[in-house]
Amino acid sequence: MSSTLAPPSPRGAPIIGNIREIQRDNIGAFMSAFRDHGDVIRFKGPLKIDLFAHPDHVKRVLQDEHRNYPRPVKVQGCLQTIVGTGLVAAEGGFWRRSRRLAQPAFHREVLEQFADTFVQGTAELIESWERKVDSGTPIDVKSAMMNLSLTNLARALFRTDWSTEFGQIEPAVAEALRYTHKRMTSPVDPYKIPGPARNRFDGALKTINSVLYPLIEERRRNGGSDDLVSLLLNAKDDESGTTFTDDQIRDEVSGFFVAGHETVSSAFTWTWYLLSRNPDVWRKVRAEAIEVLGDRTPTVADLPKLTYTTMVLQESMRLYPPIFVYMRCADQDDEVGGFHIPKGRWVVVCPYVTHRHPDFWENPDGFDPERFTPERMAARHRMAYLPFGAGPRKCIGDSFAMVQMPLAVAMIARRFRLDLVDGQTVVPEPAISLRPRDPLYMRLRSAEEAH
Ligand code: HEM
Repeated sequence: MSSTLAPPSPRGAPIIGNIREIQRDNIGAFMSAFRDHGDVIRFKGPLKIDLFAHPDHVKRVLQDEHRNYPRPVKVQGCLQTIVGTGLVAAEGGFWRRSRRLAQPAFHREVLEQFADTFVQGTAELIESWERKVDSGTPIDVKSAMMNLSLTNLARALFRTDWSTEFGQIEPAVAEALRYTHKRMTSPVDPYKIPGPARNRFDGALKTINSVLYPLIEERRRNGGSDDLVSLLLNAKDDESGTTFTDDQIRDEVSGFFVAGHETVSSAFTWTWYLLSRNPDVWRKVRAEAIEVLGDRTPTVADLPKLTYTTMVLQESMRLYPPIFVYMRCADQDDEVGGFHIPKGRWVVVCPYVTHRHPDFWENPDGFDPERFTPERMAARHRMAYLPFGAGPRKCIGDSFAMVQMPLAVAMIARRFRLDLVDGQTVVPEPAISLRPRDPLYMRLRSAEEAH
């Protein structure tokens, strides 16, 4: 007989249940409910969600029974307003076709061709920092990393520099994400209420389109370049014979901005934060950079040798997973961990919680890159670590991130030490990605002198 048992719930207010805590600090609410109630938790109120923390349950939802757990229609709808038919929001047969079409452009070997582009973007950043080294003038690392990840993304997608578009697209994407997060967590859809907030959001979408459409059109006209958009324009699905239309390409590309810009910059930013708090780890990253790269410009051949740097990034994404909730909805009744999950229930996997599950992580709040040695990784439950998600909807851009990030971190750590400016309270802000809420000020020191 299947279970009729309901999962335990944190105490909540009458009618509104736990919505206040979730809206105020969703990660804090999830962590404290996990500590108090264990692996399956039911939140009450207008946001009816069940949180699954155990890797076995995560595997069931994202992989084994993924057909029973599509994205909630509301989440899909909110994402569709920005990315239309793009992978990020698509479902079913349409999603499968698009994923097949886009996948070859995201193979690691293809993305490795952009290593020189990423190295160049990082070299330019280092150059711009040279003037500030030892000057005592703090830099905002969060904003610098947003610029670096956007530069790298734009150059890989279009081989363009975006000197003029840069100032427009960055706030537009941020505005679109902020508003979408609010929509997803509000019981009443703010998009249905005309007013300044909605106007700002519509304006942001217009800006994104006004930058993307001409670039796509220009690629379609001229063709034959080696950027990612050209690869997508030329992609053909062998099974169905379909290709992407211009509108679909626009949708996919805006999805890459939504999914691939803040995520990468958030991983970079937390990494600098953690390295500033753990100077011994920074020393090891720098020692590896010197040993592998010497003082020459890195190439893609160096990537597999940057093992410690890669482990540091993995550990940074364990503590601060850039996307911190994966939302699904039970299509049919299910039983998970001995509890009844009714049809229609929203189910949340929160990697921030699973990545700190004490059954799988010793000293879960500690920063220890050695957790990611191949031996220790092989001994661990495969779903205890999932910054890029899991199952068929796993991130398509994981290699994009894991090619650019180790190269950039190694290059920067070889040249600079970044010290957190005293007196800042660093608070993670869970919007759509998990970033420090405020600017993150650091002082640059020449690595040689700081060592
Ligand atoms: C550190 C960087 C990144 C992290 C942590 C990350 C994380 C994720 C996660 C967790 C998902 C799945 C969400 C879910 O199951 O609900 C996802 C999906 C996706 N990501 Fe990433 N991502 C990163 C970088 C990128 C980049 C650079 C791109 C593109 C250039 C990208 C494009 C996408 C797309 C298109 C999807 C939707 C895939 C689908 O549903 O088929 N991501 N990402």
